[in-house]
Amino acid sequence: MPNQEPLGILFVCLGNICRSPLAEGVFIHLARERGVGERFCVESCGTGNWHVGARPDHRSEAVARRHGVNLPSCARLLDPKSDFERFGLIVPMDLSNSRNVLAAGAEAERVRLLLSFDPALKHLPEHELQVPDPYHEGPEGFDAVFKMVSSACVGMLEELTAPTRSAPAPGLER
Ligand code: 4NP
Repeated sequence: MPNQEPLGILFVCLGNICRSPLAEGVFIHLARERGVGERFCVESCGTGNWHVGARPDHRSEAVARRHGVNLPSCARLLDPKSDFERFGLIVPMDLSNSRNVLAAGAEAERVRLLLSFDPALKHLPEHELQVPDPYHEGPEGFDAVFKMVSSACVGMLEELTAPTRSAPAPGLER
C-alpha cells in the first residue's frame, strides 16, 4: 500500500503507568517484529493526572523487560482536542476509561475495548472484556495483565493488517 497515512492508535487507562504503557510497548514490538511498524502511530495516555510525567510503573517495566519489550512512554493526560484528531482508533483498557473518552467527545465508532480484539474472547459480553487495574496487586497481577494485553495486541494487529475484501489484490479483480 504505497504512501498510506499511518493509522493512529491511542491506548487509554487511568494512570497511564501500568496497563496502557504495556499495551503501547507490546503493540509497537509486535508490529515491528512483523515488519509493519511504519503503518501505525502508537501512543498511550491516562484519564487521571496523578502520574503525569512519570515513567511506567516498575512492575510493568519488569514484566515487559522479561519479554524483551521496551516501554517508551512517559505518562500524560488525555488531550481530547488533539488526540481525537490525531488518533483514528482509541483503545481503552476498561469500561470506566471507555466512558471517560466518550464523555470527553470521542466518536463511538472509533472507541474499542482492547480485549475485544482477542479472538478467543469474542463471545464474552462487554463487561468481561476489561483489563483489570493491577496497581494494588503484586507482580502476578502484572504477569496476568501482560498475558491479556499480548493476546489482544496479536489479534488487533492481525485484524488491522488483514487484507480487506473490498480491495482485491492487483490482477485478482474479476
Ligand atoms: P493504570 O493503573 O491505570 O493501569 O496506569 C493505575 C495507576 C495508578 C493509579 C490507578 C491505576 N492511581 O490511583 O494512582
